[in-house]
Amino acid sequence: MSFFDTIDKAKVPQHVAVIMDGNGRWAAQHGTDRIFGHQQGVESVRNAIKAATRAGIKYLTIYAFSTENWNRPRFEVEALMSLLVNVVKAEADELDKNNVCLKIIGDRDSLPKKVIKETDKMVARLSKNNGLTVIMALSYSARWEIINAVKSIAADVKKGKISTEDISHELFDSYLSTANIPDPELMIRTSGERRLSNFLLWQLAYAELYFTPKLWPDFTEEDFFEAICNFQQRERRFGMTSEQLKKRM
Ligand code: IPE
Ligand code: IPE
Ligand code: MG
Repeated sequence: MSFFDTIDKAKVPQHVAVIMDGNGRWAAQHGTDRIFGHQQGVESVRNAIKAATRAGIKYLTIYAFSTENWNRPRFEVEALMSLLVNVVKAEADELDKNNVCLKIIGDRDSLPKKVIKETDKMVARLSKNNGLTVIMALSYSARWEIINAVKSIAADVKKGKISTEDISHELFDSYLSTANIPDPELMIRTSGERRLSNFLLWQLAYAELYFTPKLWPDFTEEDFFEAICNFQQRERRFGMTSEQLKKRM
């Protein structure tokens, strides 16, 4: 039986965030170079999108490249950027056919022009779709995002557009690159690493964290469904007691 059949379709998370990690180790295990590992990882992205669509998830955020990843060897950074451009071009038709909408978050100004051009084209092309929204975090880091939000809030206070008293959780949300997108209820990280690596620090405040030893290129649709099932077995208490939650049901 597939994990898909075990999923309670009425209780799937609205938003799942994924740190796809382990491409380099996968490549080393297969005696190839890191770039081949990244290429293999593309198939897992396709599978995650398919799985999220099948499960009825509304938002899927994938961490594709962090601010810190700019510190990798130049050859790898360039290979990742050109892989991205090729994938965006090659996948547009399929994503459109599957009614997928795309958003990009991250430090746009740090990206090569070619990446900006191709991703902009793809975002525009898919903008009317209303199926799964894929949010690609590209040259993204949560601290960068939070600092940006703080700067914009400070500027708006200075201009008199808002007052200090207006600053609330909700207002802060609206200054983030994920404004109007619900927080992820589930965060999946592959490759056995158990850290957030500067990913969605604000938005993941109450997310359930799921870590799997599988390396990203080995992560299948079935693995994605297993993570959803695992999520559905958890009791999300939000500071309350188990008894309180049972009374509410
Ligand atoms: C994840 O795989 C992809 C990116 C960070 C771009 P890694 O490249 O981090 O793979 P490992 O962690 O070295 O195995
Ligand atoms: C996090 O993976 C970033 C992405 C998946 C894009 P890394 O492999 O770069 O994270 P660290 O450096 O091991 O924490
Ligand atoms: Mg890694």
